[in-house]
Amino acid sequence: MSKKKPDNTMNKIVSLCKRRGYVFQSSEIYGGLDSCYDYGPLGVELKKNVKEFWWKHMVQMRDNIVGLDSSILMHPRIWEASGHVAGFVDPLVDCKTCKGRFRADQLESSVCPNKPSKMVSECGGELTDVRQFNLMFKTQMGPVEEGATAVYLRPETAQGIYVNYPNVLQSSRQKIPFGIAQIGKAFRNEITPKNFIFRMREFEQMEMQFFVKPGTDTEWFEYWKEQRINWYDELGIRKENLRFHQHGETELAHYAAAAFDVEYKFPFGWQELEGIHNRTDFDLKRHQECSTKDLQYFDDVTREKFVPYIVETSAGCDRTLLTCLVDAYEEEELEKDTRTVLRLSPRIAPLKAGIFPLVKRDGMPELARKITDDLKQHMMVFYDEAGAVGRRYRRQDEAGTPFCVTVDSESLENNTVTVRDRDTMVQERINADGLLAYLRERVE
Ligand code: GAP
Repeated sequence: MSKKKPDNTMNKIVSLCKRRGYVFQSSEIYGGLDSCYDYGPLGVELKKNVKEFWWKHMVQMRDNIVGLDSSILMHPRIWEASGHVAGFVDPLVDCKTCKGRFRADQLESSVCPNKPSKMVSECGGELTDVRQFNLMFKTQMGPVEEGATAVYLRPETAQGIYVNYPNVLQSSRQKIPFGIAQIGKAFRNEITPKNFIFRMREFEQMEMQFFVKPGTDTEWFEYWKEQRINWYDELGIRKENLRFHQHGETELAHYAAAAFDVEYKFPFGWQELEGIHNRTDFDLKRHQECSTKDLQYFDDVTREKFVPYIVETSAGCDRTLLTCLVDAYEEEELEKDTRTVLRLSPRIAPLKAGIFPLVKRDGMPELARKITDDLKQHMMVFYDEAGAVGRRYRRQDEAGTPFCVTVDSESLENNTVTVRDRDTMVQERINADGLLAYLRERVE
């Protein structure tokens, strides 16, 4: 038995995602909308599980981090204060020949849309001068276009946290150091979205802003770096596919004094999964200046007043989901054939078990249905009686379901079932009364 990752993994993952109901192209029956994707029945479960796992680690298990869900549309001056109106730009060029639009700093890796396709840098088409293109989506608020207020779809969830910092501080009675976490949609009008759900125009972020006393920021920065890389490990991502990348002077965002990315080794190369930033007091000072509200923290022990520094952990939910799929995807060569298996960690797998009657007669479907209904109260399981049992196992292997429970003739005699492990394919016979405990122990 040998295991290997095929070269065209991305294409295979994209088609598996469609086939098994993980991810679909948005608006597909209208020809699709570039860089927007919809999560199908399994995708939505996987995404929910990834978010819950993040929330558990970042909020539920900590006394000093609380949650927030701020609105996507916010006062437009927030984006002036944050520096996004002036500085959230990418350099853009147009090709006068093919009319394609490209990021000027990524010409080496951009493909000319003219056939036969070449890289833009070698296609010979004349390019316009570089223009700075703001990535924020602008829309208007109010019923009449003239006179309506221009607002932006947020390009990051972080600013919703900063402007709510006094509200959260007062209502939750937290003391520094403490954090505010938020999961939510963000929007960026990316010039060249690519690689499936890796770079989209509408995506979800899982961000946490940790407010600390100036001078302790470096220590907290190191703490969060370690916490975050450990989280991916617990998520089941292989260690050898993760690494840190430190931002050099020219890479640093306008708000950051120091930044490390957690990177994953995707089939298209090492790429950013999460940013960990020391944002200093940049954001709160800017909001203090522009709103004229006092955002200083008063330390009632030392009697000091200061604007807190912020250490941010900013992960992409969709990128994490893609990472889970890529890392779990395997084609396993067996004696007679090859099976595709998604070795997702059981705790995030969309379905925890497939429940099958061996055949559709002799009371097996009835018992399998009853087991399904009982388990459904506790976890996501799936009843399937269609086709040969071997086929049903393979379908669940591809969907990433860690266990398959089969009801056979022996089950009717002595109330036992077989449980097949997705990874080893080994089957174990257990008493049906202990099934819930058996599965719980392995998936929670
Ligand atoms: N608040 C800081 C911030 O937004 P960022 O590095 O620009 O930092 C954080 O974004 C994370 O959001 C990235 O590491 C990535 O996982 C995710 N992300 C950013 N742009 C994205 C896009 N166009 N599509 C999908 N995910 C994206």
